[in-house]
Amino acid sequence: AHLAAGDPQCVPWKKNACCSARVSHELHRDKSSLYNFSWEHCGRMEPACKRHFIQNNCLYECSPNLGPWFQEVNQKWRKERFLNVPLCKEDCLDWWEDCRTSYTCKSSWHKGWNWSSGSNQCPTGTTCDTFESFFPTPAALCEGIWNHDYKFTNYSRGSGRCIQMWFDAAEGNPNEEVARFYALALSAGTMSLGTGPLLLSAALMLPLGLLD
Ligand SMILES: *[C@@H]1O[C@H](CO)[C@@H](O)[C@H](O)[C@H]1NC(C)=O
Ligand SMILES: *[C@@H]1O[C@H](CO)[C@@H](O)[C@H](O)[C@H]1NC(C)=O
Ligand SMILES: *[C@@H]1O[C@H](CO)[C@@H](O)[C@H](O)[C@H]1NC(C)=O
Repeated sequence: AHLAAGDPQCVPWKKNACCSARVSHELHRDKSSLYNFSWEHCGRMEPACKRHFIQNNCLYECSPNLGPWFQEVNQKWRKERFLNVPLCKEDCLDWWEDCRTSYTCKSSWHKGWNWSSGSNQCPTGTTCDTFESFFPTPAALCEGIWNHDYKFTNYSRGSGRCIQMWFDAAEGNPNEEVARFYALALSAGTMSLGTGPLLLSAALMLPLGLLD
């Protein structure tokens, strides 16, 4: 876990063994060898926008605190996903604001691409337009783009109730407390209903608003 200075964005998780320098380097690249996924499927993406996708990758690959929302899936470019991770409001608003003028051709990026070239291309019948036209609101972006990996919340950074994509690790990782809170809330909910794997998986799919 030694991150190169040239790949700064995964630094908050640098103590985590699964976030090696090689992985971090790849997560900073368009069409990284990890996914072959191009953010620039409609031409150049603004750097201010791209940094949110890099940070999203870092969180996804490097954060040890997303256990409560983990799921296995079988998609072309990923084998696991997260469902309804409650994202802090500011992280979503900034992401949307910084990306509204960049271009894309789809409002859900998890499937429906043309992969015949080896990386994702816009499928026939779609046209490139601004993010804002595909994602009219911040919630539409954060919840829609990766098919509900994230849930938009009204919780602010530091509330202990939402996951931060961006934080200063020098002041500790705020997501540890958040993961503990939801893991406990989920297991408490399960026990009060009775126990068992079926109930546990049902509890994991409850809208997080019920846990407030
Ligand atoms: C990405 O593309 C390269 C070259 O086309 C290929 O070797 C590699 O297996 C691909 N990776 C994934 C995750 O599909
Ligand atoms: C996929 O893209 C290739 C060009 O890279 C094109 O020839 C083909 O028709 C496309 N397929 C579909 C289903 O859109
Ligand atoms: C967030 O708060 C605003 C203003 O208080 C409210 O209009 C909105 O419905 C809330 N959104 C969610 C997802 O709770």
